[in-house]
Amino acid sequence: MSSELERVSGLIREVEDFPQPGVLFRDLSPLLADAEGFRVVVEEMAAHGTEADVDVVVGIEARGFLLGAAVALRLGLGVVGVRKPGKLPAVAHRVDYALEYGTATLELPEGTLRRGARALVVDDVLATGGTVEAACSLVEHAEAEVSAVSVVMELAALNGRRRLAGRKVRSLLTV
Ligand code: PRP
Ligand code: HPA
Repeated sequence: MSSELERVSGLIREVEDFPQPGVLFRDLSPLLADAEGFRVVVEEMAAHGTEADVDVVVGIEARGFLLGAAVALRLGLGVVGVRKPGKLPAVAHRVDYALEYGTATLELPEGTLRRGARALVVDDVLATGGTVEAACSLVEHAEAEVSAVSVVMELAALNGRRRLAGRKVRSLLTV
């Protein structure tokens, strides 16, 4: 691992028993608040987008919004936020899915992804993969393509990659 990514890794805080007893939560807030750490992760994710020749970035609520917007700006692209339910005035499609700690829903805003667009799906953490899988299915429902998935941290024990088999997934850090 590069020294830059080692430093990034050190900026991620581990919080026991959040949001439920028994869950060790990786909190990226200190990393996102650190100018150099934020720059490193955004540039690495943007490089992944360039390699995959994407033309739009899809960020997942909530921390995927922060990363996705910065990556899109770096690439000179637009950004689409897939959202938790009840936030959007016009919903193109909705997917329910299971989380490590409960269930959730994501919605794609109407009028954002053109048919055939090549999307980079961005989030902070890949855990069970349910969230990224749901975001990918929203992209594909819009007849756009998931060209790559980029996350900062992958929790290998939860095997999210298995759910995303066949997709181009890159994590900057694996624990
Ligand atoms: C977290 C994280 C990912 C997702 C990963 O978000 O930011 O989006 O869980 O879990 P999975 O791979 O098991 O689906 P969370 O649902 O906690 O929402 P938040 O970003 O709004 O806090
Ligand atoms: N951090 C952030 N999001 C998550 C985590 C975590 O440890 N586990 C599942 N989603």
